[in-house]
Parts: sequence; C-alpha cells; structure tokens
Amino acid sequence: MEYKLAPSLLSADFGIVKEQLEIMEKAGAPYIHLDVMDGVFVPNISFGMPVLKSLRKYTNMVFDAHLMIVEPERYVEELAKIGCDIINIHVEATKNPKEVISKINSLGVKSGITIKPATPVSAIYDVLSDVDMVLVMSVEPGFGGQKFMPEQLDKVRELKKIKDEKGYKYDIQIDGGITLDNVREVIEAGVNCVVAGSSVLGKEDIGKAVKDFNSIFEEY
Ligand code: DX5
Ligand code: ZN
Repeated sequence: MEYKLAPSLLSADFGIVKEQLEIMEKAGAPYIHLDVMDGVFVPNISFGMPVLKSLRKYTNMVFDAHLMIVEPERYVEELAKIGCDIINIHVEATKNPKEVISKINSLGVKSGITIKPATPVSAIYDVLSDVDMVLVMSVEPGFGGQKFMPEQLDKVRELKKIKDEKGYKYDIQIDGGITLDNVREVIEAGVNCVVAGSSVLGKEDIGKAVKDFNSIFEEY
C-alpha cells in the first residue's frame, strides 16, 4: 500500500508560498491539498482561481482541490482547465452529487467526494463506484488548526470495508487535526492519503515535517 501526504496550502505563508512548495516537493510530498472556500458553505474565505492558476506554474505536485463551496458544479470545468488533478466536492454542497461527479470524470481529471463530520457514509453510497477519492473530514470544515475527532475513524473503517468487498478504486483521505502522533491510528483505520496543514506548513522546518510523515508511512 502506498501512502500519500497532502500538505494543506491553507497553512502556507502566502508571501513565500513558491519556496514552500519547492521545499515540500523536494522533501517528498506528492500532493498539495487546496482548500477552496466561499464564505457560504463554510464560515471562511480562502483562495480561488487566480491563486491556483499562478501556483500551477511553479510545482509538479498533484493539485488536490477540496471544494468547500456551494454548487461546486459551477466551477469544475474551470478548475480542471487551470490544472487541478483531483476535484473533490462535498456531498452536502450540491443537489445532485452523482451528476457532478460524472461531470468531473468526463473532464479527464480525478473526482472526489467529501463528507462532513455529521454526514454518514450512507449519504455517498451511490457515488462510491464512480470516485477516485473519498475524503472523511475529521474536523468541521472551514479552518486549520482544529482538534482531531477520532470517532470519524469509524467511517474510514466502513469505507475500507466497502472498498475491499466491492473492489472499488478510491483512495481514502482524512483531513483535519492530523499530527505525527495520531497518523498511525488513521492509517491503521484504512486511510492512505493524509492531509496535514498545521503539522507541515505550520512548522518551522517544513521539509523535515514532510520527511517525518513519510518515515512513518514507511513503517507500513
Ligand atoms: C479545513 C481544511 C483542512 C485544513 C487542515 O476545512 O479542509 O484541509 O487545512 O488543517 P489542519 O491539518 O491544521 O487541521
Ligand atoms: Zn481540506
């Protein structure tokens, strides 16, 4: 099993973000997790198209876009066009998630579906055969630096069981409050793609933080 670290851009220093991307890529982080927020779906605003478009020129990291916006179907085409490799929508954000996932798949990029802490796995049963990634939120979406909710791991276990039984292809991602101290627990529950904001970009030595996560992944 291959484990992937996805540092979250939300915790970047945007004055030196190009350098930070270079350091993380060189240290061995394959993904950059991009939290797009609209101030409506979540009570915060982050960054959007112009920022992502600029950054695309400076890194080969996989662009993993986590859309915390209402009616994400309005923007999936443009996000694919500017170079997002994975477009991940919240099931709670749209009336017809299955249709939006199929639209994303038709754009030739990978698709993802996300569930908030209060949303059960049953809310996404009908899209599990169609997605490349399922993201389980382990904090309320909107802000970095919150405390990990361990009870969310039951949903990870359920998703792993369904994946193995049905032979589905999706990666299982977790997002929120992940640290070097709890990452083993999430891997053991079935996660293979780990988002980390404060635990990587919030650190003094971000290259070391990436390497520390990767050396834990090597234990498995
Ligand atoms: C929260 C975002 C996260 C956030 C995680 O809504 O989806 O990706 O950046 O930050 P940490 O790892 O600090 O909890
Ligand atoms: Zn996120």
